[in-house]
Amino acid sequence: MSNILNSKVVVVTGASSGIGRAIAIRAAEHGAKAVVVSDVVEMPREGGEPTVTAIQALGVPARFIHGDVSKRIDNDTLVEAAEEFGGVDVFVANAGITLRTDGVDVPEEDYRRLMAVNLDGVLFGAQAASQRMKAHGKAGSIVLIASMGGIAGAGITVAYSTSKGGVVLMAKALADALGPAGIRVNAIAPGTIDTVLLRTSPGIAEASEGFRQRTPLRRLGQPSEIGDAVAYLGSDLSSYVSGHALVVDGGLLAVI
Ligand SMILES: NC(=O)c1ccc[n+]([C@@H]2O[C@H](COP(=O)([O-])OP(=O)(O)OC[C@H]3O[C@@H](n4cnc5c(N)ncnc54)[C@H](O)[C@@H]3O)[C@@H](O)[C@H]2O)c1
Repeated sequence: MSNILNSKVVVVTGASSGIGRAIAIRAAEHGAKAVVVSDVVEMPREGGEPTVTAIQALGVPARFIHGDVSKRIDNDTLVEAAEEFGGVDVFVANAGITLRTDGVDVPEEDYRRLMAVNLDGVLFGAQAASQRMKAHGKAGSIVLIASMGGIAGAGITVAYSTSKGGVVLMAKALADALGPAGIRVNAIAPGTIDTVLLRTSPGIAEASEGFRQRTPLRRLGQPSEIGDAVAYLGSDLSSYVSGHALVVDGGLLAVI
């Protein structure tokens, strides 16, 4: 497809299903040297073969590491696994969840669980990756998967929007912290992307047809289209792009 990730070792969290799976497979299709993926489960929610099997079929080395992003040590273990290939060059903090109970009265326990994955998990991944990149003197790229829900708010996703807004600002703060070491940090804010998460999230699932009709391109996005945006931000084509939140939504947030 392209060779823009030539010689890069790419690490992706939440990569068994949906967007993370597509990011990992697309990285291989864009020439990655190796792809290391992690998730709490190995089988895709949408069915089919494990992500590593699909990547290996492309002739690219791949490893699956079982891990929960909300645990700092699991992120360290994941990044350590990339040492086999020379160390992480591109780290993608993709794992994220929605809640059945989201909204203004979101229960405390659910709110804390969501923040542990969507916010703590992203920071812990960026910490683990950047420490390794600095140790190797690599000009790495860290990509945080946020959401259009982190740029515009919605009453049905109070906790989710709060977490994703935090991810957008985290990318800017980390870009400042890590830029002197040559490490770039950016966020991607997907719009409505056709995954199991979109189809099963209460409120969001019902709203998705309305989103589609208001989207200038009049369709939902495909996970691979987020994979292509990640490939750009992970590659040297974006060598002067840092602290940016790239909206990939078919134009939805651009219109009223
Ligand atoms: N689908 C959309 O329309 C959309 C829009 C905006 C943002 N996003 C974001 O994109 C990311 C991926 O979403 P998706 O639609 O592919 O969802 P998905 O549910 O299809 O896939 C998410 C994956 O993350 C894994 N995961 C969940 N908790 C984890 C944990 N604690 N540690 C490690 N892995 C964990 C799941 O097992 C799953 O494989 C999420 O951060 C989501 O918030 C999705």
